[in-house]
Amino acid sequence: MSELQVLEKTLLAQVRSASSLAEIEEARVSILGKKGKLTGELKKLGTMDPDKRREYGQGVNKLKALLQEALDSQGAILKRAELEVRLSEERVDVSQPARPRLTGKIHPITQTIDEIVAIFGEMGFNWADGPEIETDWYNFTAMNMPADHAARQMQDTFYMAGHSGDEGSLVLRTHTSPVQARTMLTQEPPIRVIAPGRTFRSDYDATHTPMFHQVEGLVIDEISTMAHLKGVLEDFLKAFFGLDEVKLRLRPSYFPFTEPSAEVDIQCDRSGGQLKLGEGSDWLEILGSGMVHPKVLENCNIDSNKYQGFAFGMGIERLAMLKYGIPDLRTFFDGDQNWIQHYGFDPLDRPNVVTGL
Ligand code: PHE
Repeated sequence: MSELQVLEKTLLAQVRSASSLAEIEEARVSILGKKGKLTGELKKLGTMDPDKRREYGQGVNKLKALLQEALDSQGAILKRAELEVRLSEERVDVSQPARPRLTGKIHPITQTIDEIVAIFGEMGFNWADGPEIETDWYNFTAMNMPADHAARQMQDTFYMAGHSGDEGSLVLRTHTSPVQARTMLTQEPPIRVIAPGRTFRSDYDATHTPMFHQVEGLVIDEISTMAHLKGVLEDFLKAFFGLDEVKLRLRPSYFPFTEPSAEVDIQCDRSGGQLKLGEGSDWLEILGSGMVHPKVLENCNIDSNKYQGFAFGMGIERLAMLKYGIPDLRTFFDGDQNWIQHYGFDPLDRPNVVTGL
């Protein structure tokens, strides 16, 4: 074996045994660098006689090209291997559920609406909807509050400046009751719906915000009475607050769109400065309700001699504050991250009546 063949063998072995890109770099320097082994061989040429020099020079150059190629290909192999390792280490399994700590929170209003929908859904209610910018007709007239009606002043209405059409001017709906009319005008009885959503009144203090939420309930058929209303509300409140028993008190009241009308109070205990629902001898008002007024039925093309039913409207913030011990209404809409981290809910744990609310 010639001197160059021996050199070729050892240097190629050195290149092929490199197990990292750093070792490849080391090998490159130790072979082809200024003080490298092959560079040393080329330096010897100066001392050789011309014939030998030619032959040896060609041999060294061939070997140089060979080693260059070996370094490149070994380098490419190692580079690919290192990439594979990185890819497998840094892999993100997109099918894995997010870690809760890294996720946002569900707002208590959303949570409460989801719970309400789950409970009434289980009872056979459908979900109904209407626009937040409503016509005067749906918000007031259809609900038995004609233009000169005093009850219109009860609600501090936001009017949309410069808008008026066939159905009157546009308002931000002051309650979810216009969804009653929208539903009755588009569905045949029997009707059984709830309509949660935003409502607006020009009012702002510790217990009022200009935007708030209500959920409307409406049942229209040939048989439903105040007794059914009470039963439905009792079942709802027991499920919502997780109570075994609860007493309700229907207190005579007035709404233009129901007759008779009742405000519903839930039994509570205020002794010891703490509010407990479902026990005690105190009462807490939680919603308005009544039998749908025959005039409302007629306004919505429903025969009031054949059909009847009940409606109710509840404030969602109120329910959320009671259930989750949130003391101040205004904090719901501050957009405070600390507040939402504290009072918010796990987005991966949505309420349903089977596994619990
Ligand atoms: N719309 C009424 C309010 O906002 C609540 C209500 C709804 C009362 C349905 C009776 C029947 O105060």
